[in-house]
Amino acid sequence: MAHTEEQQGTRRDFLYYATAGTGLVVTGAAVWPLINQLNPSADVVALASIDVDVADVAEGSQLTVQWLGKPVFIRHRTAEEIEAARGVELSELPDPLAANDNLDGAAAGTDENRALDEEGRWLVMMGVCTHLGCVPLGDGAGDFGGWFCPCHGSHYDTAGRIRRGPAPTNLPVPVAAFTGETTITLG
Ligand code: FES
Repeated sequence: MAHTEEQQGTRRDFLYYATAGTGLVVTGAAVWPLINQLNPSADVVALASIDVDVADVAEGSQLTVQWLGKPVFIRHRTAEEIEAARGVELSELPDPLAANDNLDGAAAGTDENRALDEEGRWLVMMGVCTHLGCVPLGDGAGDFGGWFCPCHGSHYDTAGRIRRGPAPTNLPVPVAAFTGETTITLG
């Protein structure tokens, strides 16, 4: 089936690129079990908080890392994506909340309240559809130029906010911050 192929393609294309607190560099999902065997306690530390080097993430592209067993999308947005996200009125949003773990739960779903940095160049969010948990397709997919979940047709905009389809809420923004010039720490 077409959508299954697309999903598999998405998973295959994932680029895991994270550094754990111990200095381990993880370049592939298959490495995780090995780390588990070698040093379970280090793995626990790594899962709770990971550093991601985004130096090589070009504008207009997305890095997907695995954190707490789930994909996290880290997108380096273009000026057009930022402009599109910031031009949306709150009244147009099915879910008006920011869904950002770095902010108060009542924070409004403006792009400014979801982007990682003030300029809005970086967007970090869980790559799990809020409908039933599929991994949405990125790179401008869907009718709003952001992400599209092919499982049941949920369209997310360039800020990861649900705009159409059965997903009830925006893609959640996890606890994240720049802790170095090109380092984003999750957790
Ligand atoms: S799981 Fe994404 S639309 Fe249903």
